[in-house]
Amino acid sequence: MTEYDVVVIGSGPGGYVCAIRAAQLGMKTALIEKYNSLGGTCLNVGCIPSKALLDSSHHFHSAVHEFADHGIEVGDPKADLKKMIDRKRKVVSQTVDGIKYLMDKNKIDVYHGLGSFKDAHTVEIDGEKKETIKGKKIVIATGSKPASLPFIELDKERIITSTEALELQEIPKHMIVIGGGVIGVELGSVYARLGAKVSVVEYLDRIVPSFDKEIGKELMKSMKKIGVKFHVSTKVTAVERDGDNVTVVAEDKKGNEVKLDGDICLVSIGRRAYTDGLNLEAAGLSTNDKGQVEVNDNLQSKVDHIYAIGDVVRGAMLAHKAEEEGVFVAEHMNGEHPHIDYNLVPNVVYTWPEVASVGKGEEALKEEGRDIKTGSFPMRALGRSRASGDTDGVVKVIADAKTDEILGVQMVGARAADMIAEAVVAMEYRASAEDIARMSHAHPTYTEAMKEAALAATGNRALHM
Ligand code: FAD
Ligand code: NAI
Repeated sequence: MTEYDVVVIGSGPGGYVCAIRAAQLGMKTALIEKYNSLGGTCLNVGCIPSKALLDSSHHFHSAVHEFADHGIEVGDPKADLKKMIDRKRKVVSQTVDGIKYLMDKNKIDVYHGLGSFKDAHTVEIDGEKKETIKGKKIVIATGSKPASLPFIELDKERIITSTEALELQEIPKHMIVIGGGVIGVELGSVYARLGAKVSVVEYLDRIVPSFDKEIGKELMKSMKKIGVKFHVSTKVTAVERDGDNVTVVAEDKKGNEVKLDGDICLVSIGRRAYTDGLNLEAAGLSTNDKGQVEVNDNLQSKVDHIYAIGDVVRGAMLAHKAEEEGVFVAEHMNGEHPHIDYNLVPNVVYTWPEVASVGKGEEALKEEGRDIKTGSFPMRALGRSRASGDTDGVVKVIADAKTDEILGVQMVGARAADMIAEAVVAMEYRASAEDIARMSHAHPTYTEAMKEAALAATGNRALHM
């Protein structure tokens, strides 16, 4: 039986990054993945394919609605969804092949098959053949799966999750999205841009609830422009399929019935930690009531040499959070003292305009009783935004009222996904709003909104407003 220094179960961004870092540090490393392709949710049915379709649909939407404004005549553009999906598959396969290359390069042994614990150091792999390996340390990186509601039967044809929404063969006539969180607004945008009628039903009084309310409002305004309809404060009570028709029944906050008929219903109400088939009990472990593996600050489970990272543990379900934890764990196993500042893990939504934040929001800080000040700057006041025609959005800097330290940044706007990196660096170095206000930002760029918002936060001295 082969014995490894580290056995990683699950090859998503948490698992494969952990394996690379462990191998870099000289540990003999194995990676187990139940599917044939590496990369987990993110590369196969998450981050990468969704962004490929977001980009294709964005191009199409621009061709139909924006090119003419720029003086470009393209006639009557047609969306070929099959081609878009084919392109997406190629992007996924190139990315997944890249992980295989990295495993080979780092001399990591890859096993394909379901990994399950035989005991706290032994993992059985049920693949093409049955194999058993041992690990001095073991890392659980088994990720998450879509959640659903007890009364919804996901038939994966017309009542679907994000996984099927990335593989549709026809543009829906009417897509009803349950849940106005990240998946709902990203994949809702894809199909709205391609011409589908899209209705989002959200339980809370706002969409993208992990951001400040005004950010959700700003995004909603932009999404309404591409035709998306929103039903907020609305509780879904039934979802029925009849042939090609799906009926979603819901109740608004006044108690009125809302009935929507469509051909596709996307259920995107969150994801749940995934440990099915792992046989945690054999290792002396169990899950908490959320299905997560409980870990301490070093990401160790209650059995010291078994770690857990990524979507299967507490915290944001984000690829870059999982990656940070992968590196952390490898270095911790190597006797180092790594650190992760979870407050500085950025949160990004790849709609257009994009949405991004880091640190705490204004509402959360007020709830904590912090004495704060804010400065906002609208994207429409930037020359860069007018030049491109991307004038929707706002950047908000939130700082401590006394010390001026930046405590959070929230933004909606073109390329916010990339712009948020400035705020992450600033906060890592505990910059003040004054620091950002005094730094030169290239003109004309969208990043000037960050400087202007910092100016607004420090004595209301934005220059272009
Ligand atoms: P996963 O990526 O879920 O990987 C876990 C792996 O473990 C899987 O491959 C699974 O097959 C394998 N596995 C499970 N059990 C076993 C077992 N017993 N034996 C062997 N293998 C096993 N995050 C972002 O940061 N940015 C985005 O843009 C983004 N977009 C997303 C879009 C969609 C549609 C979805 C669904 C998610 C998106 N996410 C995004 C979230 C991101 O995909 C996850 O946070 C990330 O994949 C978590 O990584 P992980 O390594 O913890 O788990
Ligand atoms: P989510 O947690 O982002 O949003 C779920 C939404 O559904 C919330 O707004 C919630 O209030 C609503 N909801 C819950 N129950 C409901 C009900 N019964 N009726 C109506 N609405 C209901 O979850 P989502 O969108 O499924 O995504 C899962 C996770 O995947 C995200 O939390 C995120 O971590 C990750 N992800 C990240 C992306 C990114 O980083 N860009 C993109 C896509 C997914």
